[in-house]
Amino acid sequence: MITGQSQSHPQNPTPTPAPSHADRARSFDAAAAQYAENRPSYPPALLDAVEEEAGRSLRGARVVDVGAGTGIATALLHARGADVVAVEPGEGMAAQFHTTLPGVPIVRGNGNALPLAAATADFLTYAQAWHWTDPACSVPEALRVLRPGGALALWWNTDALDVDWIADSADRISRFFGIDVRSEQSKSADRTGLADPSGRLRFARREVRWSRRVPVDTHLANIGSHSAFLVTPEDRRTAFLAAERAHLLETFPDGIVEETYVVLLLVALNT
Ligand SMILES: C[S@@+](CC[C@H](N)C(=O)[O-])C[C@H]1O[C@@H](n2cnc3c(N)ncnc32)[C@H](O)[C@@H]1O
Repeated sequence: MITGQSQSHPQNPTPTPAPSHADRARSFDAAAAQYAENRPSYPPALLDAVEEEAGRSLRGARVVDVGAGTGIATALLHARGADVVAVEPGEGMAAQFHTTLPGVPIVRGNGNALPLAAATADFLTYAQAWHWTDPACSVPEALRVLRPGGALALWWNTDALDVDWIADSADRISRFFGIDVRSEQSKSADRTGLADPSGRLRFARREVRWSRRVPVDTHLANIGSHSAFLVTPEDRRTAFLAAERAHLLETFPDGIVEETYVVLLLVALNT
């Protein structure tokens, strides 16, 4: 996951204001179709781990998938037999969700003020979305909406930086944004403190490694759908992705890229 953003342009020493957290949180709406088509999903073993840590099956469970976006995780929860409702603040992402999952209910709202009654959910899930909330609000909201014994499950696909080409690509991205992707990822390896600075939640932590093989265009469009790129001026973004294509084709001359992820999963029970 790319989290940082440079304050200045390498060719232009005049600092430019970095896009705000709110700008980045909203950036997905303009790229919802690109997001739906190119972002990775999550492996079956992840949902097995969610069930194991929660101590109950998703089948028949009342699940609220918050920050549902285009519905990548919601579709998996629905396919497991969960009675799932999606919550999503963004208009563009919610519209794409309707197209992809027309039969699944979606409510406009966000994790800091959930539009849901108290003690109604068996699971609250946040796939790649909790970091957009303010835990000072989203933690108490999660505890309000979960039934006693219900589970809050947060997860993120993180890059497997022990794979050489992924580490090399992360280094190029770091240089482009003037940040250190590797050190950011290792600092946030134990995300429990970031996820709940108040320490109210007792998280179980799991990692699930998986990979997918995709055309280089899909890989580049996946990278380009991260908020750090979406808020970058188009000419800079396009130039970076063109250079990245050339690097990738040296490693994958057949044009098929093997992306490897480690899904970081945190599960806390409402005890
Ligand atoms: C990286 S996308 C993840 C989408 C989807 N869950 C997935 O796994 O592909 C992050 C989503 O969080 C949403 N979001 C932004 N701010 C949020 C907030 N405060 N609460 C909940 N979701 C938020 C964005 O609109 C976006 O759809």
